[in-house]
This record gives sequence, C-alpha cells and structure tokens, in this order.
Amino acid sequence: MVKAMSNETIPQRKVALVFGGSRGIGAAAASRLARDGFAVALTYVSRPDKAQEVVAAIEAAGGEGLAILADSAEPEAIRAAVAQTVERFGTLDAVVVNAGIMRMGTVDVFPLEDLDRMLDVNVRGVFLAIQAAVAHMRDGGRVITIGSNTAVRSSFPGTSVYALTKAAVATMVKGVAFDLTPRRITVNNIQPGPTETDMTAGVMSHLEGMLPLGRIGQPAEIAGLVSYLAGAESGYMTGASLTIDGGFVL
Ligand SMILES: NC(=O)c1ccc[n+]([C@@H]2O[C@H](COP(=O)([O-])OP(=O)(O)OC[C@H]3O[C@@H](n4cnc5c(N)ncnc54)[C@H](OP(=O)(O)O)[C@@H]3O)[C@@H](O)[C@H]2O)c1
Repeated sequence: MVKAMSNETIPQRKVALVFGGSRGIGAAAASRLARDGFAVALTYVSRPDKAQEVVAAIEAAGGEGLAILADSAEPEAIRAAVAQTVERFGTLDAVVVNAGIMRMGTVDVFPLEDLDRMLDVNVRGVFLAIQAAVAHMRDGGRVITIGSNTAVRSSFPGTSVYALTKAAVATMVKGVAFDLTPRRITVNNIQPGPTETDMTAGVMSHLEGMLPLGRIGQPAEIAGLVSYLAGAESGYMTGASLTIDGGFVL
C-alpha cells in the first residue's frame, strides 16, 4: 500500500537572503547557499553588475536567485528587500547580514560622517536587517551576521571605529539570540580575519606575514561556515561568535 506523504517528508525549498551579496564574502555565501539548495535573494548598493553576475551563476547552476538594490544604511530599503524576497520566494528561512564597510583613520582625525556611515551600515543596518527578517522567518530559522576578528583584537592603529562596530555586532547577537529562543531561530556571528576581497585589496601582502597559518583566507572558506550555520546540524548553537582567521587572534 502506498502511504500518503506527510508534509514532513516532502522536502521544502528553503529561502535565504544575503545582505551585501554582490561581492566578496557575501557573494561566496550566496553561491554556497544556492549550492546547498536555497533560493537566494541578495542585496547590493553600488555594483548591480556584480550582483547580476552572482544571480546568473546561481541560475546557470539550476538554482534561483534575485538581486535587490538596497542600501543597508536605509531602514526602508532593508524592509523592502525582505518584503521583495518573501514576495518572490514565498518565505524566509535564513538571513546572512554581511553588508559592511571599513573606513580607517586614527581618533584624532576620524571624520564624523565616516563614523555615522559606519554605525548606520555596520550596526544599525545589522539590527534592522535582523528585525525585518525575523518578522517573516519561519520558526527554526537561521540568522547569521558577519562580524570581524577585530572585535576580539585590534591589531592596527586606525581601526577603532571598525572594531567597535564589529564588537557591537557580537554583543547584539547574544541578546537577539535570547529574544528568539522561543521561536528556535538561532542567531550566530562569524568573525573572519583577513580574507581576500575588494575590501582588503592592497593590504593583503602586508597582512600575510602576520598570520600564523601563513596565508590569507578565501571567501569560500567563510562561506563554508555560513553553510554550516544555515543548515540543520547547527541547531544547538545560538548566540555564538565564531572566529575564522588563520590564527590571527592567537
Ligand atoms: N575581507 C575581510 O578581510 C573581512 C574580515 C573581517 C570581516 N569582514 C566583513 O565581511 C563583510 C564583507 O566584507 P568583504 O570583504 O566581502 O567586502 P567587499 O568585498 O567590500 O564587499 C562588500 C559587500 O557588501 C555590500 N555593501 C557594502 N555597503 C553596503 C550597503 N550600504 N548596503 C548594502 N550592501 C552594501 C557590497 O555591495 P556593492 O557590491 O553593491 O558595493 C558588497 O556586496 C563585511 O561586513 C566586512 O566588514 C571582512
């Protein structure tokens, strides 16, 4: 006798939204999640060409992708990106809050507008992205932020503002994780060290010599951790900040 399949046995397509998914770590995360079977929406702010490249690659591999223009400094744009994702793909299971900027300068000369922009994108934008996403997320979903190992160790002059934004994310994640335990939504923070992207172009050879493992990280390596945190096996982990940095903070 053929038994009718319950909903539990029908694999449901999962949906992910990557804030800042057009380049670097975010692009690698979007591609990896698509490979894992997620339909993936990704936001961008300045590079529609790169965002479309990521979507085209996802679609060429048989997946579903959607590029959305949304400045993470703009609360309405963040909310609209979540709404567009849900409208297109029907639900939301995982959000990767990766969009971030790094402007450097020592305390004596750091411009107010750079301070405000970094707080807007790297801190307020992260909180608002999580807030907007979980309003639509299925129970048991996944929130993943991309912080930085600078939250643990500031190794250079000129990084105080960047480091404080990433330390704020690590602390925020603990509180938000607590808030979302009743819904079994896990909230975890990845803290990469030097990773080869446009953000670090030009300083890589300088950094390489400082890394105990003797090399720079690749975006795909960070995406591997995103994949784990977005998957079923990470369900017992929440509120954690995981540093992945070639031993830089040792
Ligand atoms: N690379 C590293 O060594 C490193 C180390 C630790 C932590 N991180 C963190 O990892 C994350 C990604 O860094 P990355 O190195 O991959 O940077 P990246 O190569 O500069 O890429 C940044 C990505 O974020 C998007 N983005 C930037 N500002 C945005 C905004 N206001 N609204 C929406 N999207 C925005 C960019 O979109 P567009 O393409 O449209 O500009 C791009 O997709 C950041 O949070 C960064 O702080 C990086």
